[in-house]
Amino acid sequence: MAQRLIVVDHPVLADRLAVLRSADTPHGQFRQALFEASAILAVEAARELPVTQVEVTTPLEATTGSRLPQEIAVVPVLRAGLGMVEGFLRLLPDARVGHLGMQRDEEELTPRDYYERLPAQLADAYVYLLDPMLATGGSAVHALDRLREAGAVRLALICLVAAPEGLKAVEEAHPDVTVWTAAVDRQLDERGYIRPGLGDAGDRVFGTL
Ligand code: PRP
Ligand code: URA
Repeated sequence: MAQRLIVVDHPVLADRLAVLRSADTPHGQFRQALFEASAILAVEAARELPVTQVEVTTPLEATTGSRLPQEIAVVPVLRAGLGMVEGFLRLLPDARVGHLGMQRDEEELTPRDYYERLPAQLADAYVYLLDPMLATGGSAVHALDRLREAGAVRLALICLVAAPEGLKAVEEAHPDVTVWTAAVDRQLDERGYIRPGLGDAGDRVFGTL
């Protein structure tokens, strides 16, 4: 099965991505731009949610409408994924929120778990894994492994900037997972940073540079 990769083409998203890439953007503006970019990614990714037809009575007459699935979950990879949660919850306020804490070892470039708290209903849910950066793909593959072990079946990975290396790693390990991103960048550098990228997303979201 070949990976489904959707590079979201939207002028407002492109504008926010330029703000996020700029080294001159301070953390407050970075957080705001990540929130807005995530809201656009949420609108795009939510297009694929199935709806149920329901009867609705307007003040004037009965008609039909569409409702979203009951179980939707967003799962940010800490820390940087936290910056994407609010954008999704504005659109999907009833979504459950799981957390996966992992930190990439900067020598080995492999993820180390430090926290996990996931909703019990994942098997029934449409699950959005949130992480702005898909670099080697180690963190995303590990997070998707954990979500599958916890019962998740319907999974999508939402990122902002993806490296070809990370996309390949996710495709090999989880070919059925659709990947949504604002951009596919050129390459990883020797330190595992995405080029041109936007630097260390977690540090930029939280002002810990
Ligand atoms: C960053 C980023 C991803 C990971 C991507 O997190 O948010 O989770 O690196 O790299 P990979 O694809 O090579 O695994 P980091 O581990 O730096 O943690 P932080 O968000 O707490 O800074
Ligand atoms: N993690 C980041 O935050 N940025 C990168 O470029 C690579 C991994």
